[in-house]
Amino acid sequence: MADGTTPDRRLATRAFGKLNLCLILGPLREDGYHELVSAVLPLDLADTVTIEAWTGDSDQVVCPGVEGDNLASKAIASWRSLSGWDGAPVRVTIKKRIPVAAGMGGGSADAAAALRLVAAFAGREDDALLTEIAPTLGADVPPLLHGGPTLVRGTGTEVLQLPTPQTAGYLILPSNAGLSTPVVFRQAGEMGLRRSQADLDLISESLQAAAKDEGWGFPPELLGVNDLGPAAAVLEPSVSEALSEAREAGADQAFVTGSGPTVIGYFHGNEGPMRAAAAAEALGGRVPGAIACTASPRSATIEEVQ
Ligand code: C5P
Repeated sequence: MADGTTPDRRLATRAFGKLNLCLILGPLREDGYHELVSAVLPLDLADTVTIEAWTGDSDQVVCPGVEGDNLASKAIASWRSLSGWDGAPVRVTIKKRIPVAAGMGGGSADAAAALRLVAAFAGREDDALLTEIAPTLGADVPPLLHGGPTLVRGTGTEVLQLPTPQTAGYLILPSNAGLSTPVVFRQAGEMGLRRSQADLDLISESLQAAAKDEGWGFPPELLGVNDLGPAAAVLEPSVSEALSEAREAGADQAFVTGSGPTVIGYFHGNEGPMRAAAAAEALGGRVPGAIACTASPRSATIEEVQ
């Protein structure tokens, strides 16, 4: 074909962004990573990722709007190397909707989707291999590999599936600034925000005790607790403004997600999604635009597309 692709099949899936319902920071380890406990909730705010055969010399990742190295390229290279698959080059195209460098796991979600897609494209859907590769790509990749909410422990590599928590609406307030994840972690350490491993263990136990059934109630004393939040606010002044904006828009709670700078307005209960949608509409003139969303369906399917 004129653009270099072959007329073979194309596969597509959705890569769901996430928010952290809580993110508790623990001790710094010798390898430079922190112990943490976090409840990660994938959202119905998703990038679209497609894979197709490609007549170029090597695999290619196209991601309009995102400069530089793409984690999806590393995902495909790792999968090729560990699976031993030597099929012809593939081209992966990512259509972004998840805000970039925002603490919403967009790059990680894309990498997780690229892994699942290349395995499906090669006809080698070996889940154990995907689970082995995911943590080598980044701390947010394992919780975004299979879909659905998870409790994350260790450095992000220990992932426990959770039932879906009670219905809520989420107002996403992105920022024009991007924040570097290592810089935010370091700042939190300098601010003395790290907790002991014993505290992390207690919090992890109380989350597991609460998350027994579908529709479980998130412990109110933990909802929106993000130990990286104050560090993100020091580094990026728009964070404090966005927290006020979310509260003024009627959110029951406002907090930073991940390492920020994106701020989440939490709207509790069955009317939450409607209230969050109304708040996003009321913030219509905001730049960058407010987005209302809910928890994502449990997992994204891979589909054949034209
Ligand atoms: O794993 P990922 O590449 O997403 O992590 C980016 C950076 O965030 C790490 O280099 C590290 O500085 C910090 N980080 C951390 N502890 C974690 C996860 C990430 O200190 N558990």
